[in-house]
Amino acid sequence: MNKIIRWCVIGAGGIADRRTIPAIVKDEGSELVAVMDRVPEVAKAVGEKYGVPYFSSEEEMLRSIECDAVYIGTPVFCHKDQALTALKFGKSVFVEKPISMTSAEARELVDAFKAAGKQLTVGYMMKHHNLHEMARELIADGGIGKPVNVRAQFSCWYPDIEGAWRQTKKLGGGGAFMDLGVHCAELIEYLLGEEITEVKSLIATNSFNYEVEDSAVVIFRTKSGILGSIESNFNISDAASESKLEIYGEAGYVICNGTLAQTEGGRMTHLYAPQGDYSAMQDRTAGVPTEYVGAGCDLYQKQIGMFNELLRSGKTDFFFADRAVHIQELVDKIYENAEK
Ligand SMILES: NC(=O)c1ccc[n+]([C@@H]2O[C@H](COP(=O)([O-])OP(=O)(O)OC[C@H]3O[C@@H](n4cnc5c(N)ncnc54)[C@H](O)[C@@H]3O)[C@@H](O)[C@H]2O)c1
Repeated sequence: MNKIIRWCVIGAGGIADRRTIPAIVKDEGSELVAVMDRVPEVAKAVGEKYGVPYFSSEEEMLRSIECDAVYIGTPVFCHKDQALTALKFGKSVFVEKPISMTSAEARELVDAFKAAGKQLTVGYMMKHHNLHEMARELIADGGIGKPVNVRAQFSCWYPDIEGAWRQTKKLGGGGAFMDLGVHCAELIEYLLGEEITEVKSLIATNSFNYEVEDSAVVIFRTKSGILGSIESNFNISDAASESKLEIYGEAGYVICNGTLAQTEGGRMTHLYAPQGDYSAMQDRTAGVPTEYVGAGCDLYQKQIGMFNELLRSGKTDFFFADRAVHIQELVDKIYENAEK
């Protein structure tokens, strides 16, 4: 029988209640032992919903409840201090994306966990989507030839909302790129197996009145020279937000539709059609595309399961935490150099 990993939750009301707590509860190797939220009514409602003790202070929860792991689903400006508080209590931490407000904060955080020998993992769950795993293997196996171009678009409808932390630079760190674009950047690096090394950006707030951007276009170059773009928007209606990820190689493509999402849905089309000589006819019919569909598993449960396995092994693995620091380095550059 696997050791049951006991989870405390900090920031219980948003994505925690929608996705992560249900995943912890569903997972046979996990037990939810307490929840905390700054808003006492939220803490109470979520605690009662799952039948666990609830708190409105993280220190009080960690002092009075025995646990192995802490999930942090609070606004970005809280991540660093709350992760360090959990570490002070000797806990391993699963913090939501983006890891923190800046790369300096992110590096400080990861270094502290490394020094203490405790695990720190960041909630970039999209890489666990079965179609993204398949795309990664296809690309690594030469299934599209040498990759040469990447395009990603990830968007949602996020109008002005009084008091919304994501709409304030000092609470969210940025707008559509900080919230949505980071998922694309992390995923693209994972699929290509290499870092984005250069970024240029245009940002704008075209539809709403908040101070962060509702539109961002980032162009990039990877270490081996692949060029690409990431478009993130808070101002495309949910129904029109199809979410697209396209990776083209010299000999084919993988095109994902609807896979940049919280669920393991959508579909992916793969084409392998290498070409030799130049043809002025530019025939577009060579090769037969193959279509795959999302497996429909719970991405959040996959993350929790992997985290639990790592904890049970007694080892730590900072590969993805270091990747998350690198994503914040890109974010810093994007906002420092963005043209409005
Ligand atoms: N991986 C994903 O799919 C995904 C999806 C949505 C959000 N997120 C990330 O999760 C984090 C939270 O986003 P959200 O959409 O759930 O936000 P939210 O505002 O909906 O929920 C945050 C919760 O944290 C509570 N909170 C606020 N300040 C707190 C504090 N100091 N201490 C304790 N609790 C506090 C709020 O009361 C609220 O219940 C962000 O980092 C966001 O980027 C990830």
